[in-house]
Amino acid sequence: MFSNKVVIITGASSGIGEGLAIRFAKEQANVCITGRNITNLEKTARKCVEIGGNKPIMVIGDVTNDEHLKDIVNSTINAFGKIDILINNAGILKTQSLEQITADNYDDVFNTNVRAVVFLSKLVAPYLIQTKGNIVNVSSLAGMKSYSGSLSYNMSKAALDQFTKCTALELAQKGVRVNSVNPGYIPTNIMRSLPLPDESFRTKIESAYKTVVPLGRNGTINDVVEAVLYLANENSSFITGHLLPIDGGRNLVTPRPDLE
Ligand SMILES: NC(=O)c1ccc[n+]([C@@H]2O[C@H](COP(=O)([O-])OP(=O)(O)OC[C@H]3O[C@@H](n4cnc5c(N)ncnc54)[C@H](OP(=O)(O)O)[C@@H]3O)[C@@H](O)[C@H]2O)c1
Repeated sequence: MFSNKVVIITGASSGIGEGLAIRFAKEQANVCITGRNITNLEKTARKCVEIGGNKPIMVIGDVTNDEHLKDIVNSTINAFGKIDILINNAGILKTQSLEQITADNYDDVFNTNVRAVVFLSKLVAPYLIQTKGNIVNVSSLAGMKSYSGSLSYNMSKAALDQFTKCTALELAQKGVRVNSVNPGYIPTNIMRSLPLPDESFRTKIESAYKTVVPLGRNGTINDVVEAVLYLANENSSFITGHLLPIDGGRNLVTPRPDLE
């Protein structure tokens, strides 16, 4: 399905991005993986080869640095000569409410989750127009629903969702689709890095999250990966500007008083 397709995956050094890299490699895609952590990125590259895929190219750097964004595109074109798919996956989560928020928190989150996506997509767009390719953004349920205590993150993912819809309109006539996946809670490093009172609290959180998911379980990296593969492939060629929740139905739940 993806044989000979060229795929850029940002934030492939852990979690969902790592899962995506391995899955695309399994499909014989030519993959460019990016991230700041070289050791973890090398691990991802090894796993891609172990599964029988092509060895990915690695571009190490920070997506908030414009030179790194140019490097991602130039390295991919030098290695493979074209770009078919861009997966904007790199992202950070910082918790702070309006009363706590600092300029650093706001800038870090927006520079990573929004600014980097806009300017990497801008650089990649001319190549996607040539191949009639597509973009999949890894957004969040936090972009569609409101929670307290993670203001910059929720706002950044809401901005990303508008980016998906506006660019889907702008690029549709040029044959390029833009979609997003909006996962609910998936146990990965982004969640593990949140400050918690102690380790046992994590198990508590994971059971607590399950209780608000109609399908009764937390999501997995694989749930997100398979949805991205669907949106990135030709079988979804009539879908653009779509935000796909990967959340076991959690977005449908509205609290109501118990009148029994
Ligand atoms: N896990 C969830 O519950 C969940 C739910 C909804 C949405 N998401 C979204 O899923 C995406 C992937 O997150 P994850 O859950 O897989 O978390 P993760 O394991 O922490 O992965 C985040 C990735 O982003 C990269 N990254 C972060 N900041 C970067 C920067 N400044 N420059 C370059 N790379 C950067 C990290 O690489 P380095 O550390 O190597 O730089 C890492 O590979 C994020 O956009 C997140 O918002 C996650």
